[in-house]
Amino acid sequence: MRGSLREGVPAIVTGGARGIGAAVARRLAAEGAAVTVADIDGDAAARMASTIAGARALQLDVTDAAAVDRAFDEAPQPYEIVVANAGVGTAGAPVVATSDEEWHRVLGVNLHGVFYTLRAAGRRLLGAGLPGRIIVTASIAGLAPEADAAPYCASKFAVIGLLRSMAVELAPHGILVNGVCPGDVRTELHAEFGVRERAAQSSIPIGRLAEPEDVAGVYAMLAGPDGAYITGETVVIDGGILANALGA
Ligand SMILES: NC(=O)c1ccc[n+]([C@@H]2O[C@H](COP(=O)([O-])OP(=O)(O)OC[C@H]3O[C@@H](n4cnc5c(N)ncnc54)[C@H](O)[C@@H]3O)[C@@H](O)[C@H]2O)c1
Repeated sequence: MRGSLREGVPAIVTGGARGIGAAVARRLAAEGAAVTVADIDGDAAARMASTIAGARALQLDVTDAAAVDRAFDEAPQPYEIVVANAGVGTAGAPVVATSDEEWHRVLGVNLHGVFYTLRAAGRRLLGAGLPGRIIVTASIAGLAPEADAAPYCASKFAVIGLLRSMAVELAPHGILVNGVCPGDVRTELHAEFGVRERAAQSSIPIGRLAEPEDVAGVYAMLAGPDGAYITGETVVIDGGILANALGA
């Protein structure tokens, strides 16, 4: 059966070796894309890519701006689907106990890494005169504040501003830029949040954590024909967490 994407359309997923990125890479490939699984953990990226027909792996640290530029400039064909998904969690401390190192570590990957990825993706697509779809994995932590996670929340609020600005700039060129805001998804990153994980189970109206596959379909929609008129949007997939803001 044919998928929803043009057969062989070049796609890249950063942080694609595990968790949400891996599920998105699998789903985009199933829809017809030729997927590059990019991750700082090159071995894990290679293992993941080997399970997806036609996929290739790339060792890439998104905090290295020059490496990100090379990854896009040297790709045989421009990536027409770009998923800026690589991210890290935070240890769970209040602002007054947050070290400089923790602040810069989290912002370095979750904000600066996304900026480098979006900038390189946009330049290559504009240079080639191609349309494209750029999708950022933000978070509901970028829409609602959360205690003891300030570097993470700040990074996610910031990438939503970044993607919306870029969406306005690139819409006339046919390059659409959107965000996905998952709630609590069962991944290694989610486990880093510790206490929050235990609290999450009871505060999700749907009554369970999401699995990575629960969120992957929205990326495919935003990358495909049904996303053709959507830009500057953030799609929340949280099992009702934000709808339940007053804790009914
Ligand atoms: N899991 C959740 O509940 C949840 C909720 C909302 C948003 N998110 C976001 O989803 C994205 C993916 O998270 P996940 O939960 O799948 O985590 P994960 O830890 O399972 O996967 C993250 C991947 O990113 C890679 N990575 C980390 N730093 C990198 C870097 N500098 N360069 C390239 N790759 C790097 C890791 O090696 C890993 O493979 C993140 O942006 C995260 O903030 C997760």
